[in-house]
Amino acid sequence: MPEIILKNVTKKFGKFVAVDHLDLRIESNAFITLLGPSGCGKTTTLRMIAGLETPTEGTISIGDRVVFDADRGINLPPNKRDVGFLFQNYALWPHMTVYQNIAFGLENLKWDKQRIGNRVRELLEMLHIESFEKRYPSELSGGQQQRVAIARTLAPGPKVLFMDEPLSNLDAKLRMDMRTELKRLHRDTDSTFVYVTHDQLEAMTLSTRVCIMETGVLQQYAPPLEMYSDPANLFVAGFMGSPTMNFIDGRLHADGTVSFGHLAASFKGPDGFVPEEKDIILGIRPEYIHIGPDGELPATVYSTLPSGMETTVRLEADSLALTAVVFDDVDYPVDSKVLYSFRKAAILFDKASGKNFARGSLDRPHAV
Ligand SMILES: Nc1ncnc2c1ncn2[C@@H]1O[C@H](COP(=O)(O)OP(=O)(O)O)[C@@H](O)[C@H]1O
Ligand SMILES: [Mg+2]
Repeated sequence: MPEIILKNVTKKFGKFVAVDHLDLRIESNAFITLLGPSGCGKTTTLRMIAGLETPTEGTISIGDRVVFDADRGINLPPNKRDVGFLFQNYALWPHMTVYQNIAFGLENLKWDKQRIGNRVRELLEMLHIESFEKRYPSELSGGQQQRVAIARTLAPGPKVLFMDEPLSNLDAKLRMDMRTELKRLHRDTDSTFVYVTHDQLEAMTLSTRVCIMETGVLQQYAPPLEMYSDPANLFVAGFMGSPTMNFIDGRLHADGTVSFGHLAASFKGPDGFVPEEKDIILGIRPEYIHIGPDGELPATVYSTLPSGMETTVRLEADSLALTAVVFDDVDYPVDSKVLYSFRKAAILFDKASGKNFARGSLDRPHAV
């Protein structure tokens, strides 16, 4: 399956830069998501790779073929790029049965009848819609229609499959089921998937790598768990994870001490880390704030959000407001006193640039 390489790809609409000098290497067989807030350039990027939008600058290759090169005047049309699409507003042909909807594209490709029959049956089975073969779209639920749309897109066996928020019209439960199916489908088809979403959880759970963008600029390109545990900057750290990471104003001192609020602790950075005196934002994930009788610092419960599986607890600890997550069906009365401590990783972000410059741990913060 082909590797997709974008070099220095820029898209301007008039003076407005929608995608800004994007370099991206999508490994063969990957499941990539383009993630970011609305308007950050995800759809534009996808459409450029697919050939539906012409970049202003740069080169794009799919496998060993250059499909776009601004300088050399190369621009292959979408139907020569061997790719499939699935968009948010997929439209099935209402006057055709499920079978005919899936078969239609293959007939256009002049496949013979028997081959078409075999392929359609294979897809009906893969997407668990065998029993709807003879139905019309109006006789299907939203989720079933979506499966047919996926089957139709997969039918010709595209090497690359592009999906732009394909699940956003489905309800929460169905979306969850379809995520599982998509991940399975990726394994079963051996195609490269390029998926657009603004939903960080969808990106986290589905993809082998996430490309996160803000205002047309790539912020980080990494496997989801790496992005979660070692975000490149404050934007990525804040975008990934719910509840959001705690961001605490503080200062790093040359002796390796970090002071924040009324607390101070020595910071153990990565090998070779040399501390420098500067203002920082200390980033701590809510699940790394532990609440329990073995905690070392006092706090007051401001509010709680119990969900059954876990409880989000907002704490007030002197000058600090902290969000913690407890993985249990527990609740705490508002205004009750608890003990907490910091566990595992803490990230130091440079306050001026917002960049992550050290990931390490705090050694038992204490009041100063
Ligand atoms: N055809 C167009 N003409 C002018 N501006 C556009 C056009 N298409 C997209 N844009 C702008 O480019 C930016 C990125 O759009 P888009 O890629 O659709 O964002 P996303 O998919 O991340 O929400 C947006 O600010 C959008 O308004
Ligand atoms: Mg979009």
